[in-house]
Amino acid sequence: MSHQISGLAREAQHGAGVVLQRQPAGDEDEGTQMNEKHPALESKGLHLYYGDTHALCGIDLEIQHRQITALIGPSGCGKSTFLRCFNRMNDMIDGVRTEGEILVEGHNLHDADVDLELLRKRVGMVFQKSNPFPMSIRDNITYGPRMAGVRDRRELVDIVEKSLRQADLWEEVRDRLDSSALDLSGGQQQRLCIARTLANEPQILLLDEPASALDPISTAKVEETLLQLKDDYTIVIVTHNLQQAARIADSTAFFMLGELVDHSNTTEMFTNPQKKLTEEYITGRFG
Ligand SMILES: Nc1ncnc2c1ncn2[C@@H]1O[C@H](COP(=O)(O)OP(=O)(O)O)[C@@H](O)[C@H]1O
Ligand SMILES: [Mg+2]
Repeated sequence: MSHQISGLAREAQHGAGVVLQRQPAGDEDEGTQMNEKHPALESKGLHLYYGDTHALCGIDLEIQHRQITALIGPSGCGKSTFLRCFNRMNDMIDGVRTEGEILVEGHNLHDADVDLELLRKRVGMVFQKSNPFPMSIRDNITYGPRMAGVRDRRELVDIVEKSLRQADLWEEVRDRLDSSALDLSGGQQQRLCIARTLANEPQILLLDEPASALDPISTAKVEETLLQLKDDYTIVIVTHNLQQAARIADSTAFFMLGELVDHSNTTEMFTNPQKKLTEEYITGRFG
């Protein structure tokens, strides 16, 4: 077991592709050649129903590696629902039914052999409301790695520093790692949640309005962090803040009433929108 985990961790460090099936012992490297042959994330003809509510209506979207993709659109248009498809978080909701395909680096997430625990490590998620565990800063970060079997003290110390540096929080907390995470400011808590997700060595980061509860300075910090992370991670961020999408996203997808209206280069979308509906939305004529 621990042998498998260390194999998976090694392969993640080397930036190889996503492996969503547990590999037989001794075969850990198999399946790591996927890399960037496929889009990082992809949906094909994706429909999602909550009972009678048709929340996603035939979404075809490709999300590229090592870019920030923003999902925008009026409240209730399906942004969070779409995001949750990529780590199968909607499965936990009663009465949900999907049609079509959801792919992570070419792996269909509804294949019977997809390991959900591994999937959720590889495709990490950060929510609107930061949710640090009621424990020390250090323990928040080491929680995931410990659950995955990392026991070596030195290794855990290194993971704490690396993850906090990646989330641009290290300098602010390095002297108080053993104090409660709940004593951090809202913006720091959100960056701690990003660091905690990064400690699991994901390849893809999904963020659902991560800055919507934050003041402008904390928001800027989170945005800076994401811009630094995109060299190494594929990032998808839901935001109701159009300026935020314009500031940080390489490409932007605009949803309305469960449909994907537009998906293009962010600069192009905001300066020269090709669709009338997009233009009306980004100029604030509805929303
Ligand atoms: N857990 C749920 N149960 C039933 N309906 C839901 C649930 N979550 C979302 N919906 C419905 O699905 C649609 C899309 O919601 P959501 O994905 O949350 O939109 P957004 O994130 O763009 O605001 C809305 O009509 C919403 O009411
Ligand atoms: Mg939402």
